Amino acid sequence: PLKAVIFDLDGVIADTAVVHDLAWRQLASELGVPFDNATGERMKGVDRLGSLDILLERADRRYAEHERLALAERKNGYYREQIERFGPEQLLPGARDAIAATRAAGLKVGLASASRNASLLLERMGIADLFDHVVDAGRIARSKPDPEIFLAAARGLGVEPHECLGVEDAAAGVDSILAAGMAAVAVGDSPALAHADARIPNVAAFDIKHYTT
Ligand code: BG6
Ligand code: MG
Repeated sequence: PLKAVIFDLDGVIADTAVVHDLAWRQLASELGVPFDNATGERMKGVDRLGSLDILLERADRRYAEHERLALAERKNGYYREQIERFGPEQLLPGARDAIAATRAAGLKVGLASASRNASLLLERMGIADLFDHVVDAGRIARSKPDPEIFLAAARGLGVEPHECLGVEDAAAGVDSILAAGMAAVAVGDSPALAHADARIPNVAAFDIKHYTT
């Protein structure tokens, strides 16, 4: 039986996917590197330096480690300028209800986020108290699509992976959930999410009864 739901943050609960995307686009234009929608889609769920490496695939020169760290920091500055102003309005529609309904159904609720800004966002949006266990990028060694982050969330919740459902908007995230031995619900209409067990257009369509009965 299902005992826990583990949510991704960016693009599932928080309206941040476009904020990340715009910050990367600004950096790309400053570097003169081409950036298209497919580039942005591939970055979803991937940690900060991994996302930068995707951006730099089309750069016309190589960047040393110290330059890459500085570029990642610059992007994070653009991103932080926006999320510092966030409040509960930036919760995606239905996100709070989806979490509350999961808790009301007697299930545990976890968060598995590749972002180092996860705690800040949870506080700003006023939902930090709704999670039984939070795992962010600072607590794991291997980024999504590796299963480590979802496995760590299950362990923190005190449940087995096969008793968990993961909810993700990123291809790397769905891969991570499935590799952890969990059922995956994909959010959004990207063709890159076709391998999930179930699909919903957005978190407002998440109905916990669908997975518990
Ligand atoms: C993921 C986002 O949740 O976090 C990615 O989907 C982002 O787009 C990654 O790059 C890392 O976020 P941060 O806040 O640590 O730069
Ligand atoms: Mg996401």
